[in-house]
Amino acid sequence: MFGEMKVFSGSSHPDLARGITTHMGMPLGRLKVTRFSNENIKVKVEENVREADVFVIQSSCPPVSDHLLELLILIDALKFASAARITAVLPYFPYARSDKKDEARISITARLVADLLETAGADRVLTMTLHAPQILGFFRKPADQLLATPILTNYFLTKDLSNAAVVATDAGAAKFAGHFAKRLSVPMAIIDKRRFDDSEQAQSVALIGDVEGKDAIIYDDEIATGGSIKEAARILRELGARTVRVGVTHPVLSGRAVETLNSANLDELVVTDSIPVSPATAKALPFLKVLSTAALFGDAILRIHGGRSISEMMD
Ligand code: R5P
Repeated sequence: MFGEMKVFSGSSHPDLARGITTHMGMPLGRLKVTRFSNENIKVKVEENVREADVFVIQSSCPPVSDHLLELLILIDALKFASAARITAVLPYFPYARSDKKDEARISITARLVADLLETAGADRVLTMTLHAPQILGFFRKPADQLLATPILTNYFLTKDLSNAAVVATDAGAAKFAGHFAKRLSVPMAIIDKRRFDDSEQAQSVALIGDVEGKDAIIYDDEIATGGSIKEAARILRELGARTVRVGVTHPVLSGRAVETLNSANLDELVVTDSIPVSPATAKALPFLKVLSTAALFGDAILRIHGGRSISEMMD
């Protein structure tokens, strides 16, 4: 067994970190992050962590590179302050979409991030709904993936699902959309989505399944520019869907996502708080519902500390 459990937060998502520690019934660890005029980051851990079992929460949101570097520096500081074990808790994993070599002369940057975390001194990783589950294989240390599916499932189970169908935005989302549909006991359909270049423009060209007269629930791992969701909603409406709701784990909401989603004719957009959603964004998207992941992460941290199963929790 490891020593005392301590939880620290980087500066990316303090609200979620506070929610997690409140759920766990413990205070957040004290640290100070300073940015010098030359943009160098200094992290000072302001309490003793010798032989402690330390968890560091840092999500990936703008400024993405700063937050990643801050996390690496924080882990390094904890390691040299003699923490017994350091778990990097990454609600949204940085560079998760750079997970394969699908073009010549590109970096598999998610693997590089895994290497950097290990080099900094992370002994374990805890993350949620990876773009591709095989990212877990980039680590030579233990890595656990939580899924937001139970949180989304519990929310949608409070709705009338008598005429509903889950829709995967593409073949990549189909496997987890299938689990989601099974938990909701509804049929599923899959959109044939194409991307033609790096412009982040997606096109929904066909649908496998039936949505005519149905209440569609689009499932995806993340919303970046909102293009995939808008395209999915377009084809679903064209094919006769009665309502279009969305359940997505990570609200990246980059570029012109707010405008795009506002023009997508959605009945509801349900996301988690793996990434902070600003009050201005929430106000601009009146059909947005943000679900908390604090209890999920808090319970997972307690289980890791106690050497108990995470998969049991997912079941
Ligand atoms: C891509 O394969 C992912 O699963 C999402 O569909 C994608 O990240 C969404 O991106 P965007 O919102 O820019 O269409």
